[in-house]
Parts: sequence; structure tokens; C-alpha cells
Amino acid sequence: MSIKTVYVGSDHAGFALKQPLLARLKGGFPTIEFQDCGTNGTDSVDYPNFAEKVAKLVAAAQEGRGILICGSGLGMCIAANKIKGIRATSSWNIESARLSREHNDSNIICLGARLISEDLAFELVKEWLNTGFLGDRHSRRLEQIRKLEERA
Ligand code: RB5
Repeated sequence: MSIKTVYVGSDHAGFALKQPLLARLKGGFPTIEFQDCGTNGTDSVDYPNFAEKVAKLVAAAQEGRGILICGSGLGMCIAANKIKGIRATSSWNIESARLSREHNDSNIICLGARLISEDLAFELVKEWLNTGFLGDRHSRRLEQIRKLEERA
């Protein structure tokens, strides 16, 4: 199944990257709808609220995907992974973006706006959107993670 919608959220620290990244993604992937889930300015906000919003939309959608941007890409990742069905991963280079899809079937990519450039952010998301899950032994491990969620 192909990706229909990608939900995109940030906190104040990620806002400056979210805006140009959204524009480039809309231009680069015209068949995908990129839905801006806020925040809409640089006033200080709390990242768990945006992680929850995006993660719940991703979990409810078929083949849902999300992008979360904060200062480091770490707080968003921790928060999003609290939502059932979410496999949020933080990427900082092309290989980490590729492996997050091939091995982990990542459904949310988290980016650190204070740590990476706009160009690198676009390349990471491009790699992440264009890479498929390899399945096989990795499916067994994801099933073990799914069971961890049930036992938690
Ligand atoms: C905000 O200052 C910062 O803590 C937040 O954007 C994020 O990096 C947290 O992990």
C-alpha cells in the first residue's frame, strides 16, 4: 500500500525547520498529502502535546506516517513511542534513516532542528519515505515489540 498522508508536527524549536521542510516535501512528493499539525509559531510549547497528536493520527490511519521535529529529535521520539502501534525513530544520517525503515518499519521519523541542516532533514525524510520494510526476521522482532506493548 502506498503512503497517502504524512502528519507533520513540531514544537517551537522545530518550527523553523518544519515550514521549509513541508514546502520542499510538498514539491518533491506531489502524490502524498502532508498535513501540518502545528505548532504554528515560535512561542514556547510542550513537545509531548504535538507528539501525542501526530502519533494518534498515525496510529489510526492505514499505513500512517508522521514527522516530528523538536530541538534534538529526542523528546518527540520518547513521547511518540508511548502511543500504541507507534515505531518512532530518530535519524541523523542517511543510513539511520534507511535502517529505521528496513529493520524497524518506522512509522514516525523524528528530527532535531537544532542539530541538522534543512538540506539534510529533506534528504533524511526522502530516504525514509522511499525505503521499504524488509520483513523476514525483522517482522519477528517487531511482533515481539508489539507484545511488549501488551504486557506494559
Ligand atoms: C525545547 O527547548 C527542547 O527541549 C525540545 O525541543 C526537544 O529538543 C526536547 O527533546
